[in-house]
Amino acid sequence: MTRIGVLTGGGDAPGMNAAIRAVVRKAVFDGLSVVGVQRGYAGLIEGDFRPLDQRSVADIIHRGGTILQTARSEEFRTPEGFAAACSRLREAGIDGLVAIGGGGTFRGALALAGAGFAVVGVPGSIDNDIPGTEYSIGFDTAVDTALDAIERLRDTAFAHSRVFLVEVMGRDTGFIALAAALAGGAEFVLVPEIAFDLGALCEGIKTSYTRGKRHSIVVVAEGAASAMELGQKVREATGLDTRVTVLGHVQRGGRPTGFDRTLASLMGAAAVDHLLQGPTGQMMAWRCGRVAPVPLAEVVAQRKEIDRTLYDLARILAI
Ligand code: F6P
Repeated sequence: MTRIGVLTGGGDAPGMNAAIRAVVRKAVFDGLSVVGVQRGYAGLIEGDFRPLDQRSVADIIHRGGTILQTARSEEFRTPEGFAAACSRLREAGIDGLVAIGGGGTFRGALALAGAGFAVVGVPGSIDNDIPGTEYSIGFDTAVDTALDAIERLRDTAFAHSRVFLVEVMGRDTGFIALAAALAGGAEFVLVPEIAFDLGALCEGIKTSYTRGKRHSIVVVAEGAASAMELGQKVREATGLDTRVTVLGHVQRGGRPTGFDRTLASLMGAAAVDHLLQGPTGQMMAWRCGRVAPVPLAEVVAQRKEIDRTLYDLARILAI
């Protein structure tokens, strides 16, 4: 193996740049040349490549987003698009590929592995919904961003004795919501994995005021409910002054935490090791404090479950 490619796919996540930097510098250290693929599989189909040396990844370890940009490519899923991507890789003499992203990115990587390319995945997603790994790059930063917002909202919620519904991202999972609720001391948390009852939620909020609370923070995972719609219902049912904040894409940007930068550096370097020494067709996972390979086929076939003890503990600690 002499030349490898690196791409980022799906939603960007803080720390992806640190992963790109680690891939490039570890590869250069090992005597490989590196090609950056712009805009994920969309750029792969078009052959939108640029050479990356150790200097071209300077000063990016602390930056959110991805210098390679990213995309969700429908065309790559078509036989024509996939064939074009394979041709571009062969023409460019790219022997191995590091794909940084989430489920969609890994399904694409697995298809390339099936076509005979050496491929290794690095989990990057704020949602932390990637099976096989305890953490994906960007989750820690997104939770910190949500916490920063929750703390600001708590100040004004207390000042006005208000109920605040805070909607966080996570697609159809509640990992960000659970972590932010537990660490942010939220009164309630709604996640898609656990059904909730509107009447019970409203009763719970009212009861918390009679227990002496002067405000209430409800963290709502976007997959559980629309906080905007729910806020209206809570206002009507409780008669309490209620406000809603949808955090949205602020959770996707910003400087990655130290943890995300470390995770990205370890995983990026390990990905290059696996391209060189095998086995490939693996995702670099974080398990029990170290990087470990997990077959991409297993990753895409499973669904990651939330830890319900976190949900229960968040409720207990909110009494
Ligand atoms: O997967 C990351 C994520 O930010 C999800 O939390 C969210 O549901 C989705 O991407 C938003 O996608 P887009 O940036 O395309 O609006």
